[in-house]
Amino acid sequence: MFKVILVCGARPNFMKIAPVLAAIRASGRIQPYLVHTGQHYDEKMSQSFFDVLRIPRPDVDLGVGSGSHAEQTARIMVEFEKVCIREKPEMVLVVGDVNSTLACAIVAKKLWVPVAHVEAGLRSGDMRMPEEINRIVTDSISDLFFTTEPEGNENLLRFGAPKDRVHYVGNVMIDSLLQNREAAEKIPVLEEMKVESGKYCLLTMHRPSNVDDPKVLGPLLDAFAKIQERLKIVFPAHPRTMSMIEKFGFSEKIAKMPNVVFCPPLDYHRTLKLNAHSRFVMTDSGGLQEETTALGIPCLTIRENTERPVTVTTGTNEVVGTSPEKLLAAVEVILAGKWKKGGIPEGWDGKASERIVAILEAFLERSR
Ligand code: UD1
Repeated sequence: MFKVILVCGARPNFMKIAPVLAAIRASGRIQPYLVHTGQHYDEKMSQSFFDVLRIPRPDVDLGVGSGSHAEQTARIMVEFEKVCIREKPEMVLVVGDVNSTLACAIVAKKLWVPVAHVEAGLRSGDMRMPEEINRIVTDSISDLFFTTEPEGNENLLRFGAPKDRVHYVGNVMIDSLLQNREAAEKIPVLEEMKVESGKYCLLTMHRPSNVDDPKVLGPLLDAFAKIQERLKIVFPAHPRTMSMIEKFGFSEKIAKMPNVVFCPPLDYHRTLKLNAHSRFVMTDSGGLQEETTALGIPCLTIRENTERPVTVTTGTNEVVGTSPEKLLAAVEVILAGKWKKGGIPEGWDGKASERIVAILEAFLERSR
C-alpha cells in the first residue's frame, strides 16, 4: 500500500476531495490519510459538505480557522509539517487554489514528499486574486499535474512543467455533480425558497474584489434590485458577504428587495438543485462557472476575468464584469431566450477521479 495524504480545507475543496477519496478507497492500493486544515469551520461551510458528500471523518483536523493570509497560511504550514513528519506519506495530494492548497504543497515539497495538484494549470492572469498566487506557487513546485481543461495544459507547459507529468483527466468537481444529481433532486429546496423551477435566478458572491469595497458592492446590489423586479433571486450569502453587507450598512438595500430570498450558505445538494432548476446563475465562484456549464444553465460571471475559459468557449458562461449596466444587459439577453446553448468540455464525464487514481498508482509504483 502507498500512503497518500489528501488535503482539504475550504468549501470548494470538499466536492473535489470526495470523489478522489472514494476512487482511492475503491481501488484499494493506496492508504489515504485525510487532513482537514480547518480553514473553513462553520457547520454550513464545512461539516454539512462532509455529511452530504459522505466524506469520512478526517484523520486529523488542524483547526487553523480564519486570519490574514499570512496568519492562516503560516498556521496551516506549522501544523501540517508535524503531520507530514509523523505520517511519512509517499505523496501529498492537494486540490484547487485556496490557502490550504498552497500551504500544504510548500510544506510537503520541503520535506521531499512529491506533490500532486488536482485542478492544476488554471490562470486568471489577475495577480490581485489570492487564488492566482496560490495556483502559480503550487504549480511551480508540484510533481504531478491533473488538469480540467486544455488551457490548463498549455499554461503548465509554457511555465516549464515536464510534459509527461501533465495529465488532462477532466473535472473531479463534475464527478461529484453527476454522483449527486439524483439525490439532490429529492430535496424540497424550491419549496423551502418559495420559487418555481425555471422562474428564478441563483446568485452567489464572495470574492474580496466584489464584496470588500462598498464602491463595488453597493452598485452591484442596486443592479440586483433591478433584476429582482424581473424575476426572483435566491441569494445564499457567504459569511464574508454577510458581514460586509452589515459593515457597510447595506442591509437596508436587501430589505427593500421583496423578490430576493437572502439566506445563509446552503449545503451541496440544495445548491446543486437550485442551480439545475434556475433560469440562470450570477456568480463570482469558480465552481459554479463549471457546474452551470455541466448542467447547461446560463452563467453570468461577475468578474473581469476567469481562470476557467473553457466554460466560456465551450460552455454556457460569459464573463460580464462588475459593471451593473453589462450585468443588466446580459440578463435581458437571457430573458429574451437568446443565450448560447453550450456544450460539455472533454472529460467532464464523471470519471476524472478514476483516471487520477490510476495515474497516481503508476507514479507511486515507479517512484518506489
Ligand atoms: C476562501 C478561498 C476562496 C474560495 C472561498 C470559498 C482562499 C485565499 N480563498 O475564501 O478561493 O472561493 O474560500 O468559500 O483560500 N468565515 C466564517 N466561517 C467559515 C469560514 C470563513 O465565518 O467557516 C469568514 C471569516 O470571517 C473569514 C472570512 O469568512 O475571515 C473569509 O474566510 P477565508 O477562508 O479567509 O476566505 P474565503 O473568503 O472563504
